[in-house]
Amino acid sequence: MRSSVCVVALVVLVLPAVQTFVPIGSGMTHVTITGNAVMKKIHEVCGALAESEKRPFKPTGSSAEELLRACLGTHTGEVSGAKFHEALNQIYMQNGIVDRDYASSNPHHFNNEAFIEGHSLITKGVTSIKANIRSNNLQAARETLGRVLHTLQDFYSHSNWVELGYKNTYINLIRPDQTINNVAGKCSHGGKDDLSSTQTPRGGISKDERLGHNAALHDTAVALATDATLELLEDIRGAVGNKEFLRVMGIARSAVVCFVIDTTGSMAEEIIEAKRLSHQIIDSNKGTQNEPSEYILVPFNDPSFGPLLRTTDAEVMKKEISKLTATGGGDEPEMCLSGLQLALTGAPSSSSIFIFTDASAKDMHLERTIIALIKSTKSTVYIFMTRRSARSLNIEERAKFQVYRNLAFASGGQAIEVTKANLPSATDIILDTTTSALVTVLHQARHTGGVGNFSFFLDASLSNVTAYLTGTNLKFSLYSPSGASQPHSVSNGPLATIQAVGNLQRIRINSANNTGLWQISIQTTGAYTVKVTGQSSISFVYNFVEEFGGPHKGFAIIDGLPQKGLPVKLLLTITGQKGAEALKIQQVALVGAADNNMVNGIIKDIGGGNILVTVDKPPVEEFAVMIKGEDSTTSSYFQRQTTTQMHPSEFFVKAVVDSTMLPGKDFHVPFNVTTNGAGGVFSITAENDKNFPMKYEKTLTVSSNGSALGTVIVQTPADTTSGTDITLTILAAGPVEYSNYVVLRLSVLAEVTDFTPPKCKIFDVSPVCPLNCTHSNWDLSVNITDGNGSGIENIYTQKGSGNFSYYSVEDGGVTVVMGYYNASCCSPDVIVTAVDKEGNVGTCAYTVQTINGGVSLSLFLPFWASVLVSVLSIINI
Ligand SMILES: *[C@@H]1O[C@H](CO)[C@@H](O)[C@H](O)[C@H]1NC(C)=O
Ligand SMILES: *[C@@H]1O[C@H](CO)[C@@H](O)[C@H](O)[C@H]1NC(C)=O
Ligand SMILES: *[C@@H]1O[C@H](CO)[C@@H](O)[C@H](O)[C@H]1NC(C)=O
Ligand SMILES: *[C@@H]1O[C@H](CO)[C@@H](O)[C@H](O)[C@H]1NC(C)=O
Ligand SMILES: *[C@@H]1O[C@H](CO)[C@@H](O)[C@H](O)[C@H]1NC(C)=O
Ligand SMILES: *[C@@H]1O[C@H](CO)[C@@H](O)[C@H](O)[C@H]1NC(C)=O
Ligand SMILES: *[C@@H]1O[C@H](CO)[C@@H](O)[C@H](O)[C@H]1NC(C)=O
Ligand SMILES: *[C@@H]1O[C@H](CO)[C@@H](O)[C@H](O)[C@H]1NC(C)=O
Ligand SMILES: *[C@@H]1O[C@H](CO)[C@@H](O)[C@H](O)[C@H]1NC(C)=O
Ligand SMILES: *[C@@H]1O[C@H](CO)[C@@H](O)[C@H](O)[C@H]1NC(C)=O
Repeated sequence: MRSSVCVVALVVLVLPAVQTFVPIGSGMTHVTITGNAVMKKIHEVCGALAESEKRPFKPTGSSAEELLRACLGTHTGEVSGAKFHEALNQIYMQNGIVDRDYASSNPHHFNNEAFIEGHSLITKGVTSIKANIRSNNLQAARETLGRVLHTLQDFYSHSNWVELGYKNTYINLIRPDQTINNVAGKCSHGGKDDLSSTQTPRGGISKDERLGHNAALHDTAVALATDATLELLEDIRGAVGNKEFLRVMGIARSAVVCFVIDTTGSMAEEIIEAKRLSHQIIDSNKGTQNEPSEYILVPFNDPSFGPLLRTTDAEVMKKEISKLTATGGGDEPEMCLSGLQLALTGAPSSSSIFIFTDASAKDMHLERTIIALIKSTKSTVYIFMTRRSARSLNIEERAKFQVYRNLAFASGGQAIEVTKANLPSATDIILDTTTSALVTVLHQARHTGGVGNFSFFLDASLSNVTAYLTGTNLKFSLYSPSGASQPHSVSNGPLATIQAVGNLQRIRINSANNTGLWQISIQTTGAYTVKVTGQSSISFVYNFVEEFGGPHKGFAIIDGLPQKGLPVKLLLTITGQKGAEALKIQQVALVGAADNNMVNGIIKDIGGGNILVTVDKPPVEEFAVMIKGEDSTTSSYFQRQTTTQMHPSEFFVKAVVDSTMLPGKDFHVPFNVTTNGAGGVFSITAENDKNFPMKYEKTLTVSSNGSALGTVIVQTPADTTSGTDITLTILAAGPVEYSNYVVLRLSVLAEVTDFTPPKCKIFDVSPVCPLNCTHSNWDLSVNITDGNGSGIENIYTQKGSGNFSYYSVEDGGVTVVMGYYNASCCSPDVIVTAVDKEGNVGTCAYTVQTINGGVSLSLFLPFWASVLVSVLSIINI
């Protein structure tokens, strides 16, 4: 044992000169450390879940895609890894962003001995992650998780914990009920003198990079940072349970049903159709990968809208949708965009959102906010605009509905105009879209009529290929790779089945022998859109990124639009049946959606299915992203396209928030508008999806090539539930150019007072299990209490396939939960987890011994306890 307190003093690197533990790059970066730990933990939790569901868990390989499929279980059908990667990227990118947005904040990096502040960032972050998960705000939870992990990982690189010889993680960092001064009872503050490069550790204590003088220390720092990441993930898993934990990590079937429904008096037919559809989707996809993992329903009327229903339970969706009735309002404009705003902020990103309405929008002022949310979430909006008669609309009537066409175009969805009577024949598009492997092969829109030829590759992995055309008086022909053709007038031909309703043509391409280059030629007098979709596991996700300098260089996601006049950089993640390995990407281009003009990017493969693409001269008009490549398993060429319309902007809006909001307290969100062009008066609009009151200046004067700061003050109502997330959109509209935006997800969190986890005690354990486990059982009892804490909210078995039952008793004013566990000897491990109302986690773990041995040492303590014991013994002084 050590003899001096000073020996264990934590010295921390004072300043920059550090290079990596970088966000993205080669070697052991924050992202690789996070990725390794996250994958390992997902693997473990999937295994535990499969065991409790008594099904096998055997990934066919090591890729994320194979892990996803094995974890989702025995469902039949295709599932794409795109949303899994998207969720992981939400964690990874926020992890990396800490080096840009908080480069000079000591607590975020455990620089300059900001231990107490760093500890508080971690534990507050974890509390907010748990509260967000309980309120089903998974994206907010992922983003906070990414940032918190960065800080936790930096501890091992930026402190001298490793130099002090510790072989274990410093568990107190993730314990809100523990202080950390106990350990760093320090006698020296370190400071510059402590960093003398002539003393050991030579060259300073930063272990960010693996260099000659610190290779071993760097490796230890990486190993401990990985272990610490696993411990933090385990704590979150304990608090929310296996299934919720996996959902946070992006393990879910990607089909989501999201309906936004006008419920005014004239909407009776549409509501009946929406009910029929939701029942059909739920019933026909049960037990397949296409079974939706989440249901979202937003009614709107006049003047009310919402509330947002969000559930993973199909029966709840059925019940809620059957409660809808058509009342009030009339054919007058309604609160459609407010309803859509709720759906866009509540649905996972890249969702398909279906709106049913027969009236124009009353809240048109939200159009730009909605477009910003569409671009930020990359969700696709389909609008069924119904009316009673089939007569075409006059110019004035058409103009009233233009906002819906704009939203559909911006998102790559469709604005479908159909009579009320014909609606049921138009809604097959919803069934087509409800799949866990939806991909877009082609999407183009023309604002004027004329003749257009569009070609596209269909690859062998695609199934259920469908083309959709919208427009009036469309004439078209379809040409197959072998040169066969089918005109629009033949509805059941050699190539496809064509169904026309309202302004929509749905072209179901026959599945036999259809790989190769197809063409569709179109002739029309008015605006039209073309979209080709299918089901495939080959897909991709992307984000605009910017390179940033400073001590820790890296890439950060640009939330708004990329900057005009600069090369556009994108980070793509490619996903296929078994990862990206079999896929050779040959071309990545930005495609003008309105002119098919393509600008190719320079491709740099950075490993793990990630590709950095640089486009030097991006289109100035709206564009989407297209990739082409070859699938070496089937030797067929493929193409995929995104549908969200993006464009470069001359100015950008930036806001950085890293604290949670308190109920009843004003919350200040500073933001910065920077232009690389003309200055002038910018108009500012802030909107939030919870209708919290806000105060801000409506204009901001920015000089040419300059920047200016503004502040939005959000007045959080006192009765806001802890764990609520609010999506705040700050829009700036320039004097000459259109708008840019920043979208922030903020969390409201009540002040936490209970930091103590529930305590768990094991007793009355059955002695041993025989070697042949088949016909034997074992059991144990537990007593669980939460002392003076917030009270126990949930108790469950985190591991083990046995039966667990419990009941509560009052004993001398204390609530004791008495539990009994009984399992087959073939399931020898059990972990009983108790979570209090604040998300503090206590666990009991036990493994019954087999054959002639005694009983293994039981751990009555929370999972960190064994580590804690060893740490305390080292610092025993
Ligand atoms: C479109 O394609 C058709 C069939 O391949 C061809 O006959 C026609 O010339 C093309 N039109 C244009 C404008 O390229
Ligand atoms: C996709 O196609 C398969 C057969 O090719 C069919 O069984 C399935 O119902 C189709 N799925 C949808 C959503 O239409
Ligand atoms: C399949 O298509 C190829 C060319 O794309 C053609 O040569 C072949 O005859 C087709 N086979 C059948 C069975 O249609
Ligand atoms: C902004 O700066 C660029 C180069 O730094 C210059 O070419 C441009 O004229 C400036 N724009 C304005 C409006 O001052
Ligand atoms: C706004 O942000 C830009 C880019 O991050 C920065 O250069 C500028 O100094 C900031 N402006 C203000 C007023 O803080
Ligand atoms: C275990 O016992 C059962 C019957 O009690 C027997 O059928 C089985 O073969 C035994 N397994 C082994 C591995 O001995
Ligand atoms: C466990 O439950 C089984 C029935 O499910 C019962 O027969 C047995 O006595 C219980 N306890 C033990 C230790 O097996
Ligand atoms: C509960 O709080 C009281 C007063 O703070 C204290 O005396 C008592 O020991 C606490 N009980 C437990 C179980 O922590
Ligand atoms: C478990 O709790 C009950 C109720 O408080 C108590 O009677 C019993 O003695 C406890 N058992 C143990 C082993 O602590
Ligand atoms: C658990 O309970 C179920 C149903 O109550 C029973 O069939 C099963 O045998 C029990 N398992 C154990 C290990 O006791």
